[in-house]
Amino acid sequence: MTGPELAEAGRLLAAARRPVVFTGAGMSAESGVPTFRDAQTGLWQRYDPQELATPAAFRADPALVWGWYEARRRGVRRALPNPGHRAVAAIQARLPATVVITQNVDDLHERGGVPAPVRLHGSLFAPRCSACARPAPLPSDLPPPAGTPEPRGTPEPRGEPEPRGEPEPQDGPLTPPACAGCGAPVRPGVVWFGEALPSAALDAAVEAAAGCDLLLTVGTSALVHPAAEIPLVAARLGAPVVQVNPVPTPLDAICAVNLRGPAGEVLPALVRAAWPDADAG
Ligand code: APR
Repeated sequence: MTGPELAEAGRLLAAARRPVVFTGAGMSAESGVPTFRDAQTGLWQRYDPQELATPAAFRADPALVWGWYEARRRGVRRALPNPGHRAVAAIQARLPATVVITQNVDDLHERGGVPAPVRLHGSLFAPRCSACARPAPLPSDLPPPAGTPEPRGTPEPRGEPEPRGEPEPQDGPLTPPACAGCGAPVRPGVVWFGEALPSAALDAAVEAAAGCDLLLTVGTSALVHPAAEIPLVAARLGAPVVQVNPVPTPLDAICAVNLRGPAGEVLPALVRAAWPDADAG
């Protein structure tokens, strides 16, 4: 990222009235949330995430897939929003028509100050029945199993370690809870490979991209479709696209400006370039 590129991107952002911020896994990288393409740790090392994130994998071994997502959810609970998330919130605070569209299934945009991102790939925090789709409570919202000692002290806020006294479930396969309505296994509320994106979210994303006057794409490899088409929609209809990514992606060719660097550094710098008086988080 050079000074002139940052200045040009800042000028485009300052002139925008209806920007879209489109984010992927790189947005949460500096919060320590591993991507599918990162090496897995612990006993998950021998599994390929792309093979766990499918309807067929859940049918074949619901406990393996549920246990893996619970491990991911616990990892996200311990993570904190980074300065990039706060800079996105600063953009929305400045330009209230900003639409944030994310492919991420963590809740770091919300905790970073963006109350309602459009979620193309669902959420780790919205499990539902695998048969009747009835929303299910998160496991930590369920009463503790019989014989669990009472938690001691006041619960700590999210983003901190699990409250003392709440037993950390074992890392590994975990039998999913049964749906309170029909008894079928509860599944993670995320979009798996081979599944359709939630149509309301996809429609909202396409509409926002088609009507935006700047699209800022952050931390996505732009390889997973149809989400990867969102920046293309904006570009086709004439909106400038600004990309934040440490490495080149297939989107480079359509971008007005490529800001090479990590989101946690580039986005606060971009906000300051657009509005020198801004609190970029
Ligand atoms: N800041 C910005 N970008 C970063 C950073 C960072 N600190 N670190 C990594 N990146 C970039 C990488 O260079 C890469 O281009 O983030 C991108 C992450 O790419 P992917 O892992 O492919 O993530 P994403 O594009 O969100 O993937 C789309 O695929 O993994 C599935 O369903 C999952 O929603 C996800 C979808």
